[in-house]
Amino acid sequence: MLSWEEDSYSALQSRGAPAKSGSYHPSATPVAEAPAAAPERRVNAADKRIINGLTDVNQLVPFKYKWAWEKYLAGCANHWMPQEINMSRDISLWKNPQGLTEDERRVVKRNLGFFVTADSLAANNIVLGTYRHITAPECRQYLLRQAFEEAIHTHAYQYIVESLGLDEGEVFNAYREIPSIRAKDEFLIPFIETLTEPSFQTGTLAADQKLLKSLIVFSCLMEGLFFYVGFTQILSLGRQNKMTGAAEQYQYILRDESMHCSFGIDLVNTIKLENPHLWTAEFREEIAALFRRGVELEYAYAEDTMPRGVLGLNAPMFKGYLRFIANRRCQQIGIDPLFGQEENPFPWMSEMIDLKKERNFFETRVTEYQTGGALSWE
Ligand SMILES: [Fe+2]
Ligand SMILES: [Fe+2]
Repeated sequence: MLSWEEDSYSALQSRGAPAKSGSYHPSATPVAEAPAAAPERRVNAADKRIINGLTDVNQLVPFKYKWAWEKYLAGCANHWMPQEINMSRDISLWKNPQGLTEDERRVVKRNLGFFVTADSLAANNIVLGTYRHITAPECRQYLLRQAFEEAIHTHAYQYIVESLGLDEGEVFNAYREIPSIRAKDEFLIPFIETLTEPSFQTGTLAADQKLLKSLIVFSCLMEGLFFYVGFTQILSLGRQNKMTGAAEQYQYILRDESMHCSFGIDLVNTIKLENPHLWTAEFREEIAALFRRGVELEYAYAEDTMPRGVLGLNAPMFKGYLRFIANRRCQQIGIDPLFGQEENPFPWMSEMIDLKKERNFFETRVTEYQTGGALSWE
């Protein structure tokens, strides 16, 4: 029978960590050196690394990355389920021929057309890709929570589609059939495939940069930019007292996603700190180019979903908003802002993200509760 130490060492090998005698020694900087594997002694928090770590991934404590554990706890405290939200007002509005304009209906359908598959992409990226390359158990713990939240989001979009009696074939195939949605997914999928490719392993400069690039694309562009036109549209409907059940769900999703984005940025910045040799000028240029492309794609989606002004919104307003968000994401990971001074045309969106214990904006329940068994209804 294996001893605890042998077991932990074999676990490292099986999840693809570089062998102790591996030839990759990333740089001369002390923080970047791979810690010496020491299966014969207890885990020392200082030896933990976000990537290419050699400490036991099964052992959560001693903590090193407390920020990840705290985000895990915050995610659990924000737990919610779609079917807790009453959709009857949305259903009667949707079924009333005068309830919504054709442009408003287009917004809802195009919106769901992106989101019904986006969160499945996110879930697959975490479970089949990111998770196995991350060697800090605190971060894995958060990723497990995040994966479940992505399942809840897919559930929420399906619940809205089903409640409104939308054509499921049309909505779920939009990511194949609607060019502005397809373009966003085609941009993302190669970065997801990098991490989910079974033979992909970290431990070389090129592979570690690929991983870092995928993590940045996923957190800063997918969760941090590609969701924002859609969120703003549905939350605008809610602010006008339309589709309030859907809007309430989007509000919870926005709160979850802003946490995912913030976790991803912390992850990226900690990898940078531990592996400064990855952050070359050339690499930063590549990231900046990806951000510019991301803004273009999301703007094309805004134009497609809003060919005319609707709900007091129009596509040009989003040009400034997307640049504003992209600048912020750049700053968050240490890249110079790409666009000039941009103002946020939707300051109320920040309030939506920051809603904590206040009453829900649209409905009558509190937005933060502790567990499913201790719901606070008003
Ligand atoms: Fe999500
Ligand atoms: Fe997410």
